[in-house]
Amino acid sequence: MDSRGQAGSEVAAIKTARLEAGVSGAAGTRRAAQMLREGGTVAFPTETVYGLGANALDSMAVAKIFSAKGRPAWDPLIVHVDNRAMLEKVAILPPDTGEALERLMYTFWPGPLTLLLPRAPQVPFAVTAARPLVAVRMPKHPVAQELIRLAGVPIAAPSANRFGHTSPTTAAHVLADLDGRIDAVLDGGAATVGVESTVFDVAARAIYRPGAVTAEMISAVIGADVHVVRASADAQIAESQSASPGMAERHYAPHAQLVLVNGQAEMAAEIGKHPAADVGVMLPDGWNAGHASAVFRWGPWDNLDMLARLLYLGLRMLDDRGVKIIVCPLPPATGLGEAVRDRLEKAAK
Ligand code: TXA
Ligand code: MG
Repeated sequence: MDSRGQAGSEVAAIKTARLEAGVSGAAGTRRAAQMLREGGTVAFPTETVYGLGANALDSMAVAKIFSAKGRPAWDPLIVHVDNRAMLEKVAILPPDTGEALERLMYTFWPGPLTLLLPRAPQVPFAVTAARPLVAVRMPKHPVAQELIRLAGVPIAAPSANRFGHTSPTTAAHVLADLDGRIDAVLDGGAATVGVESTVFDVAARAIYRPGAVTAEMISAVIGADVHVVRASADAQIAESQSASPGMAERHYAPHAQLVLVNGQAEMAAEIGKHPAADVGVMLPDGWNAGHASAVFRWGPWDNLDMLARLLYLGLRMLDDRGVKIIVCPLPPATGLGEAVRDRLEKAAK
């Protein structure tokens, strides 16, 4: 199972298996599911970003996720399921929030909404970082669904990047961060949403991480107000103690320094402050890149779906060009723009 050899000196030389997801029933997906059943770590595509999966009910397998990513033990994992029986293995469905919960699952699953629910006793403490709630979601990507179904177990999966780094939206991004540190990556093409799922605490009616499922959408479905918790309100609290880790510290970050600007005039002024060779830019269509040496053409400024889908690809491509500074405009805070702003603000810390 473990393809990384015994001797420490060999570890760097032996690479992660790259499996093709192909069409339904493909050998790559079946092999990946077998690796998960045997306690291995497999990165796989979801509609949001690539996840790094392991059997959520096997604490040894879950431990491998933390060491591959360099993730601190206080940051809990999302469990991915593909049916109700699997959901009930990891979460206790609370009768009091019953109707809201049913409506949320009915409306948004499968899809980019993660629900915080009371944890079932058999979920290892490592998964929830010893918290009382477990994060669960049912992904929409057909390869993710088939993989979970074939594995037959709930799959714990954070984004498949080194801790704190930009999330991966392709199999190549996964390998750039984790080659040699995980057993396999299942290649199912580029993620279509591009930013991670909304994290929603059902009982508290609180969003801890904005995503494609917005506060307005949730509010309309449950017929009640939804509170969006912002990191700044928690500034005094250490990240490990916050309601949902991931809100406060630097996350999603490229290697270059990220500088956020509002509007075209501010962007031009910022680019002008730096030597041309040092500066890369996330450039909306029709905007001026000035003398920036590296330009990622981000798309139409009013197409928030496209801006979200290409966000991490652009940051990684500009990083690959070796620029010291990435200048990026903040999109409007509507729809998916809220999630893009959230990731950019955390990446710029
Ligand atoms: O779209 C996604 O959600 C992707 C794909 C792979 O599904 N996964 C993902 O996982 O983004 P990760 O680990 O990178 O982010 C999980 C977020 C973190 O902010 C974490 O703190 C929060 O969810 N979270 C997980 N379990 C929690 C819990 N029990 N209580 C509070 N927050 C939790
Ligand atoms: Mg992540």
